[in-house]
Amino acid sequence: MKIMNNNTLKIIPEPVKSSINDGKFFINSRTKLISNDLTDDVLKFLRKFLKDYKGLNLNQEEFSHTINYDNAIILKVMNSNKTMQKESYTLQISKALIEITAGEVNGIFYGIQTLIQIIFLENIVIDEKSETITLPCLKISDYPRFKWRGFMLDEARHFFGKETIKKLLDLMALLKFNIFHWHLTDDQGWRIEIKKYSLLTEIGSKREGTIVPNAKIARSKGKRKVETDNIPVDGFYTQEDLKEIIQYANERYITIIPEIDFPGHVVAALASYPKLSCNGGPFKVSSLFGVHKDVFCIGNEQVFEFSKDVLKEVMKIFPSKYLHVGGDEVPTRRWNTCEKCQTRIAKEGLNNTKELQEYYTSRICSFLKSHEHILIGWNEILYDNLDIDAVCQYWTNNFDLVLDHIKKGRKVIMSEMSTIYLNYPIELTPLRKTYEYDPLPTELEENYVQNVLGLEACLWTEIVKDSKMVELRIIPRLLAVGEIGWSPKEVKNFERFEEKLNSFYKILDYYKIGYD
Ligand code: ACM
Ligand code: ZN
Repeated sequence: MKIMNNNTLKIIPEPVKSSINDGKFFINSRTKLISNDLTDDVLKFLRKFLKDYKGLNLNQEEFSHTINYDNAIILKVMNSNKTMQKESYTLQISKALIEITAGEVNGIFYGIQTLIQIIFLENIVIDEKSETITLPCLKISDYPRFKWRGFMLDEARHFFGKETIKKLLDLMALLKFNIFHWHLTDDQGWRIEIKKYSLLTEIGSKREGTIVPNAKIARSKGKRKVETDNIPVDGFYTQEDLKEIIQYANERYITIIPEIDFPGHVVAALASYPKLSCNGGPFKVSSLFGVHKDVFCIGNEQVFEFSKDVLKEVMKIFPSKYLHVGGDEVPTRRWNTCEKCQTRIAKEGLNNTKELQEYYTSRICSFLKSHEHILIGWNEILYDNLDIDAVCQYWTNNFDLVLDHIKKGRKVIMSEMSTIYLNYPIELTPLRKTYEYDPLPTELEENYVQNVLGLEACLWTEIVKDSKMVELRIIPRLLAVGEIGWSPKEVKNFERFEEKLNSFYKILDYYKIGYD
């Protein structure tokens, strides 16, 4: 028997407004599912949940104005209701009906996610064997604080595969995330099939081993040899795999933003195509972490051809109009001594090697723009004349530049490293610290607030080797980020969040998501 706790619902993220009323609604085998103007996916999603969770096989009917419904779940898109904010919904449970209404299907989807949580958390179990779900009457009106609610996963350092990604997308949907940023390439692995450059996966998706903790460094003939575990790491997604995952994400109203990290963090690409480097290599897919000095040669036109060809294929696979092209941690060391890079500097009238990265970003940004795409890059891409539409993802350092970018009317996504990077141990970034992070900088005046699109929690996976470890890193902090992204600041409360968390574990159990 479950006891209601002070009439407070334990939904994560906390809804904008909720109230519990007298009475109960019973979902049973006679409950009908009624839709209007809905995509099949949304309806399928709820039907499938009720079938999997309780074995209920509910009938589905078209909404009719002439019927007075009873014992029904009604999902209604109110196309005429222009006042409803995108992604907002209302969920009302009365004795006769469960009604979810929204201005767009996304809203209905979030109403369903809330209903699913209520079913897990508030079902008054009278008889364990009964398939009836007993819910309290209530009303919820809800909408997100930020329109960009993301989670980034690095699959270059370790590869987890399709089933892990689908499980993560399920969890993200439940928490009302709408962006999955997928870091697919780096020094230690290239994980996306590019048909025109097959060596990227033939060579670039495999490495011989991974540096061990406290690795010993030996020197032989002036060369450094770092101790690795000699356990090969490999794996990549074919374009068919990617289409399957994109479809899965679409059904959950999640946009996938692929990241192809250029012009640094490219050692796996250089191992495959060494001519793209300043010194010609040879290179091995890296077993070490940190910043690598070998990057693309900006003096070489083939680098631009290569980058554009890769991005063309990426644009064909992913429907997102945003593409992430990295741009973080690009050392200029090789460029300083490269003849081709120096020629480029002279020819383009650049002042120094730092401006070579600006030159690269600007050409890639124009290319994406000419294909009606928007460039996203880490905050290292920022410079004065950066294209107005380019989006900056902030992670560390130079916050003044980011504020400046915002004040020029440009857009940012906040991924502040010390609070919402989930790869750090919980001792270093405790749950409260994550929960209390506010993506809106305190110094930002009201008229700039809309330039902060939202936030992304990031999981870098240098030391995260398998999907179990992914889960242990992201739980519970991803839940906190879910609440930051969706809930109004006024309804956030850490003590209450912790309480809600205790109940939420049974939902994680159902989805077989691990936690400490
Ligand atoms: C980053 O963490 N290098 C973006
Ligand atoms: Zn060069």
